[in-house]
Amino acid sequence: MIADLVTTGPSTDKPSCKAMPSSVIVHSPHGRWKVCVLGLHLSTNTLMITVFSLSPNFYDKVCPQALPTIKRVVEVAVHKEHHMGASLLHLHFHDCFVNGCDGSLLLDSTYFETEKIARGNFISVRGLEVVNQIKGGVDRVCECPIVSCDDILAMAAQDSVVAVIFNTLVRLGRRDSTRAWKYLANSTLPSISMDLPQLISNFKNQGLNKRDLVALSDGHTIGFSQCVIFRNRIYNATDIDLAFSKERRATCPRTGGNTNLTPFDLTLARFDTTYSKNPDAFWVDFGKSMIRMGNIKPLTGKQGQIRVNCRKMNK
Ligand code: HEM
Repeated sequence: MIADLVTTGPSTDKPSCKAMPSSVIVHSPHGRWKVCVLGLHLSTNTLMITVFSLSPNFYDKVCPQALPTIKRVVEVAVHKEHHMGASLLHLHFHDCFVNGCDGSLLLDSTYFETEKIARGNFISVRGLEVVNQIKGGVDRVCECPIVSCDDILAMAAQDSVVAVIFNTLVRLGRRDSTRAWKYLANSTLPSISMDLPQLISNFKNQGLNKRDLVALSDGHTIGFSQCVIFRNRIYNATDIDLAFSKERRATCPRTGGNTNLTPFDLTLARFDTTYSKNPDAFWVDFGKSMIRMGNIKPLTGKQGQIRVNCRKMNK
């Protein structure tokens, strides 16, 4: 019962520039304990659980213009560079898989090393300038820094590719970390050398299951990959469409050009369900899995901070 309440209780308090939301208090006539998840208080006569949960309506009252502003900036950026939607989705994933969704990927190095230079991120992390633009725009319309950099990543990922499908579902209210974890990024981000059991186990470590792995892998129907990642396949594999590999070789030579970018498929800017037998079921799964990924260890309540500049922790 405790687990249910902890994971599902919606936040009732609304954030403001002066005070971010406090907590949900749940009383149970059957319980004998008072539990405060953040701060653990115990008492003998009530079950009281204090949770900070994510909610789609987190900014509705305090800054109704926040989400439309994020959407507008994303649309302009994608219009300018079609693959930008892919890059923003990729950022959200690489942020959430390293110690949870906390915007740590966006931080520059200080007393810690930035995650941006971790193995799976170096050169692969694109679109950071758009995140900074969104932050500037949102802080202006909200008249204060109330939207976390991490919520911006989550919203931008959604707006980039799947807004029509699960527009109202994305959960918000995350806060930003005060440090980054380069070494953790090296060990927790899935790598291209992993086989299926390893990928399943990698996702399991994040609390995600096989269905999430399959659904989220469809993120690769948009965006680019660097030549070094698929060179071996287009020159040596026998189970590959010849026309496709020929086209890829045009931008990925046998030697050199490691960082040349090539689209994953022929519709690089369109998130599609080409690889799914049942598109309707796929969209449902993808929406759910995106939310589950966005729920990985978020910072909420009084944890972390709302960064003023996504690249730096506040002084
Ligand atoms: C299952 C394990 C995964 C592996 C091994 C993997 C691997 C990769 C690799 C190697 C690239 C190319 C990066 C580059 O060359 O710069 C890439 C790009 C990308 N990945 Fe994944 N990925 C995985 C899961 C995911 C998930 C869960 C998502 C999101 C739902 C995702 C979304 C993307 C997107 C959108 C791009 C294109 C980025 C861009 O064009 O800027 N990937 N991935």
